[in-house]
Amino acid sequence: MASLKQASGKAVLITGCDSGFGFSLAKHLHSKGFLVFAGCLMKDKGDAGVKELDSLKSDRLRTIQLNVCNSEEIEKAVETIRSSLKDPEKGMWGLVNNAGISTFGEVEFTSMETYKEVAEVNLWGTVRTTKSFLPLLRRAKGRVVNISSMLGRMANPARSPYCITKFGVEAFSDCLRYEMHPLGVKVSVVEPGNFIAATSLYSPERIQAIAKKMWDELPEVVRKDYGKKYFDEKIAKMETYCNSGSTDTSSVIDAVTHALTATTPYTRYHPMDYYWWLRMQIMTHFPGAISDKIYIH
Ligand SMILES: NC(=O)c1ccc[n+]([C@@H]2O[C@H](COP(=O)([O-])OP(=O)(O)OC[C@H]3O[C@@H](n4cnc5c(N)ncnc54)[C@H](OP(=O)(O)O)[C@@H]3O)[C@@H](O)[C@H]2O)c1
Repeated sequence: MASLKQASGKAVLITGCDSGFGFSLAKHLHSKGFLVFAGCLMKDKGDAGVKELDSLKSDRLRTIQLNVCNSEEIEKAVETIRSSLKDPEKGMWGLVNNAGISTFGEVEFTSMETYKEVAEVNLWGTVRTTKSFLPLLRRAKGRVVNISSMLGRMANPARSPYCITKFGVEAFSDCLRYEMHPLGVKVSVVEPGNFIAATSLYSPERIQAIAKKMWDELPEVVRKDYGKKYFDEKIAKMETYCNSGSTDTSSVIDAVTHALTATTPYTRYHPMDYYWWLRMQIMTHFPGAISDKIYIH
C-alpha cells in the first residue's frame, strides 16, 4: 500500500511537464504534498502548460527549463534543485523520466535521422538525466520512475523507431535497478497502454505532417515497390489507432504515485485497458509462432 505520509515536502523532478502525463503528474504530486520540480521543454518560450503550472503560485511547484537532450540544461537543473533543498546532503527523493516523443513508420519508410531523433529524447534523454541526478537520489535512498510503454515490452509493426527506444529504457531500468538495490534506490518502470487521445503525443495534424515528410523523403525504389495506396492505408491505420486510446490517465498517475510512495514499489506497472493487457501477456509469454498468428498475421 502507498504511504502518502512519505510525500510531505520531498523533492521530485518530473521531465516533460508541458503537457500530457507530466503536466497532470506535476499537479497531482503537488496536491499530495511533494515539492515538485516540473521540467518543461518550453518554459523559456512561455508555453501554455508552463503558464498554467506557474499560475498555481505555489512554493512547492516550480517549473524549470529542461530539455533532456541538453546536458547544460540538465546540469543547471541539478544545481537549481540542489540549492533549493533544505539539506542537500540528504538528497532528493524522486526522478520521473517522462519526457518523450513518438513517431511511426515501417522500417523501410523510416530514415536514420528519425531513428536517432526519437532515441535522443526517449532513450539517451532518460540515461543522461538519470546519471546527472543519481548522486542526489543516492543520498536520499530515493526513487527513479521511468515512463516506458507497453511498446517497451512488445513490438508492433510500423512502430520500430519508438519501440527500440522503449525497449532500451526497459533494459536501462533493469540494469539500474540491480545496481541500485544495495544502495537503497528503488527503480520502477511504468508501461502505459494507449492513452493517445488524452495526451499531446500525436494529433491528426502531426500524423499528416509525419506522413507527408516520410513520403517526400522515401528512396525512389521504396516508393515504387510499395506504392502510394499501400502507404496511405498504413497512415489511415495509424490514425485509427490514435483515435482509439483511453482518455482517463488516472491509472498512469496512480502508478507513478505508488512507485514514489509505497514502501515496496513494484518493478513494473501496466496501466492499460484489458485488450492491450491480454495482448501484452500473450506477446511476452507465448511462443512467437502463436502470438504472431493471433495478433500480427
Ligand atoms: N500517450 C500514450 O499513449 C503513451 C503510451 C505509452 C507511453 N507514453 C509515454 O509517456 C510519456 C509522456 O508522453 P505523453 O503521452 O504525456 O505525451 P505528451 O503530451 O507529448 O508529453 C510529452 C512531453 O515531453 C516533452 N518533451 C518532448 N521532447 C522533450 C525534450 N527533448 N526534453 C524535455 N521534454 C521534452 C513534450 O514537450 P512539448 O509538448 O513541448 O513537445 C511534452 O510535454 C512519453 O515518454 C511517452 O512515450 C505515452
